[in-house]
Amino acid sequence: MPIAVLVSGGGTNLQALLDAEGSGTLHSGTVTLVISDRPGVFALERAAKAGVETLTLDRKALGREAFEQALARTLQERGIGLVVLAGFLSILSASFTDRFAGRIINVHPSLIPAFCGKGFYGLKVHEAALVRGVRLTGATVHFVDSVPDGGPIIDQKAVRVLRGDTPETLQQRVMKQAEWVLLPRAAEKVCRDILRGRG
Ligand code: GRF
Repeated sequence: MPIAVLVSGGGTNLQALLDAEGSGTLHSGTVTLVISDRPGVFALERAAKAGVETLTLDRKALGREAFEQALARTLQERGIGLVVLAGFLSILSASFTDRFAGRIINVHPSLIPAFCGKGFYGLKVHEAALVRGVRLTGATVHFVDSVPDGGPIIDQKAVRVLRGDTPETLQQRVMKQAEWVLLPRAAEKVCRDILRGRG
């Protein structure tokens, strides 16, 4: 099943998906397209190095409407079966997520419903976890619907917060021990379920 990965930054979650294809963890789907909502992000270089086609749809330049129209058209034309948001920072409208219901998944760097929703992304999530003093945090993979980080949860993985953690050290551990493990497994599961007519 053709998979499109939507990115906005460093692309470490994209890299985890590409590596999972290599190791066989991800075998029911293939990353055939990487789409960035902004130019010049390192995720695009990771894709190019892996021989995966890339496309930049500059959301700032296009505006939401034209961005989502171009995105929907591209996904349709390429027969994309699963869309994976991997460090993707744009919020997709309800009409867009309704159109692709059950076909878009996202990885969020906390145990939803903690530290999620509007304004909780990247380092801000880990800063909030440290301020609250939680002992456990982690990552969540979920279906994307009209509520930011609100869709049905697919899987979660807990990560212990260590004394002396900074937002950066906590982010690295959550990515390594949770995000990069969860996302490929979830992509494989959802592709398999869709192919079996369960998706
Ligand atoms: C990281 O904060 C990660 O936790 C979240 O998006 C950010 C960048 O991810 N999912 P990536 O390295 O671009 O995949």
